[in-house]
Amino acid sequence: MAQIRFVGVRKAFGDVVIVKNLDLEVADGEFVVLVGPSGCGKSTILRMIAGLESITAGDLYIGDRRVNDVAPKDRDIAMVFQSYALYPHLTVRENIGFGLAVRRTPSAEIAKKVDEVAARLGLSALLDRKPRQLSGGQRQRVAMGRAIVRRPKAFLFDEPLSNLDAKLRSDVRADLARLRRQLGTTTVYVTHDQVEAMTLADRVVVLEGGVAQQIGAPLDVYARPSNIFVAGFLGSPTMNFIPVKVDAGTLKLDDGRSLELSAPAATATLGVRPQSLLVGTDGIPFGEVEVDVVERLGAESFALCRGGKQPLTALVRGGHQVTPGKPAPLALAGDGIHFFDAQGLRIEARA
Ligand SMILES: Nc1ncnc2c1ncn2[C@@H]1O[C@H](COP(=O)(O)OP(=O)(O)OP(=O)(O)O)[C@@H](O)[C@H]1O
Ligand SMILES: [Mg+2]
Repeated sequence: MAQIRFVGVRKAFGDVVIVKNLDLEVADGEFVVLVGPSGCGKSTILRMIAGLESITAGDLYIGDRRVNDVAPKDRDIAMVFQSYALYPHLTVRENIGFGLAVRRTPSAEIAKKVDEVAARLGLSALLDRKPRQLSGGQRQRVAMGRAIVRRPKAFLFDEPLSNLDAKLRSDVRADLARLRRQLGTTTVYVTHDQVEAMTLADRVVVLEGGVAQQIGAPLDVYARPSNIFVAGFLGSPTMNFIPVKVDAGTLKLDDGRSLELSAPAATATLGVRPQSLLVGTDGIPFGEVEVDVVERLGAESFALCRGGKQPLTALVRGGHQVTPGKPAPLALAGDGIHFFDAQGLRIEARA
């Protein structure tokens, strides 16, 4: 069993609390992705699992063993960093086999395991090269090879793809997805990249200020964000937030329909993803805006608009003409609409 369990874990550096009170259970074989803004404590959480950072309070278990006081080398965990941290003077073969050599594994066994891992990662032809003779993506694959060759209980990845360009990133991301299917090893993965979080994770943990704001399957978190922070963090372009007036728990829409909100406040925040706010008249009318800039992304285009009080981002459907500087009508698609109360917490709405 290589489940990883945080029970009320707190981490403080001096007086500054970095991780507040983390309860998280990563199941055996599960792939959990930690996302959140810079400084929210992602690396600190990984480093606590690896044993590179002490735990201020609470308990951390790997399998059935409480590891708060277990040395890093005795935790049987492999960590891959953003900076590949390869040994420059060793060949690819020696870099991958290093951890085995240190553990006095017989050299024939090392050779066999290194060959297997190199084949799996497409590195067989590069085994005699030094790291400086490799591309960034190849170096990152060597770093991954070094982690998997030991067959550890768990993998920890700290933004492993962030030094790669977009094309390589998607290649290595696919390598990772494949590896993960083949090895089925428990993994905790940190990233800033939405696509990595959405595509790799069994579950995502959205962190802010050292607090897990929401934990769930990526599509569930995307579809039902539990607060404004999560709603604004996941999804690209960022969700639009618009204050709306509510009359005794009822919100009137411009097409005459009304929505019942579960919290009877006088005001609420409407959250609508740009994909559900359309330039045009195809949906619930949502006023008129001035189109400021049109961003054409290839498959789709988004209009950055000046609305009433704040800028809005809206989807431009194929074939629809928009001209920057000109007014355009907006419409709400029925789905992808969210409501939040004054504290920023999700409230439910029904027609
Ligand atoms: N050794 C340390 N002493 C004091 N403060 C630290 C130490 N290590 C990290 N911190 C602080 O803890 C907070 C969390 O850092 P951490 O590296 O976990 O963030 P992160 O979420 O990984 O950010 P990023 O996305 O930028 O990598 C930061 O405010 C950081 O300044
Ligand atoms: Mg970090």
